Amino acid sequence: MYEIVKREDFSDVTFLLEVKHPMMAKAAKPGQFIIVRLNEQSERIPLTIADFDRDQGTITMVIQAIGKSTQEMQVECQAGGFIETLVGPMGEPSHIAHPKKVICVGGGLGVAPVFPQLRAFKEQGAYVIGVIGFRNKDLVFWKDKFEQYCDELIICTDDGSIGIKGLVTDGIKMSIEKHGDIDEVIAIGPPIMMKFCAETTRPYGVKTMVSLNPIMVDGTGMCGGCRVTVDGKKRFACVEGPDFDGHKVDFDELMNRLGRFKEDEKKALDKWKKHQDNCKLMKGSEA
Ligand SMILES: Cc1cc2nc3c(=O)[nH]c(=O)nc-3n(C[C@H](O)[C@H](O)[C@H](O)COP(=O)(O)OP(=O)(O)OC[C@H]3O[C@@H](n4cnc5c(N)ncnc54)[C@H](O)[C@@H]3O)c2cc1C
Ligand code: FES
Repeated sequence: MYEIVKREDFSDVTFLLEVKHPMMAKAAKPGQFIIVRLNEQSERIPLTIADFDRDQGTITMVIQAIGKSTQEMQVECQAGGFIETLVGPMGEPSHIAHPKKVICVGGGLGVAPVFPQLRAFKEQGAYVIGVIGFRNKDLVFWKDKFEQYCDELIICTDDGSIGIKGLVTDGIKMSIEKHGDIDEVIAIGPPIMMKFCAETTRPYGVKTMVSLNPIMVDGTGMCGGCRVTVDGKKRFACVEGPDFDGHKVDFDELMNRLGRFKEDEKKALDKWKKHQDNCKLMKGSEA
């Protein structure tokens, strides 16, 4: 059992959990993820290690409540509470070589997983340009953390309520045209965003790494659930990724596979919501 030492809500669907796990905090490297199971009955879900603090012995997750398991965590996980299982760190750590100038791109929830990579590049002495995108200013989080490590930070919003009005791809284009000597772009966010980031950098020939989020089951390379196609070859994102060369990823296949269980996912969510409603009714009648 792992204690939740902090919870912070960024919006009505996005929240942060900081969990005590000194061994994991010691071992974690940028780009890695964990498999989480809230309690014995829960599904195992992969979540990125969005931050780690070796001194405090904690790891941080930023979660978007979109279905049964993540909504259950949103309701159940409070500071002082516990998470039953945390397995990891899993996946290949991101390759933080010695580039001179990088652009780290995060879209929506992708802002959290790109942060450890961005900080690691800065610590290696790179000139770091952050490009982060949100629908509007109310959804912005970790601006201060990014400002601490970025030489330049471009915030992009759909409505222009903060930063530039536009998509992260506009921020990437602006930066590449301004600098002309970008060594690498790292882009993390929804698959459609990563696809268009890769298409934006392709004509400039700038290496672009993306972090893929296919459906994962065991996380050990045994089940094949996380199969993705990269450069025409089958790869298992849990053990060979999640980072891959964005110019070689078959994003359409990834998006297709992510939607395979929509009906079952909806059924699981509806069943859980019904159970929640019944519990509330029972509590109401007891009071
Ligand atoms: C390496 C990796 C890192 C991730 N990091 C984060 C993160 O830091 N924060 C975050 O909020 N989400 C992250 N995700 C996605 C997260 O795992 C899914 O949102 C979660 O499993 C959804 O479960 P659910 O029951 O709430 O929703 P469901 O209704 O079951 O699913 C909603 C959608 O989530 C995806 N999904 C469902 N089950 C899985 C699964 N077992 N593995 C992967 N995707 C799934 C599918 O696209 C599905 O349509 C990551 C996924 C991967 C593969
Ligand atoms: S999650 Fe099973 S092989 Fe990757």
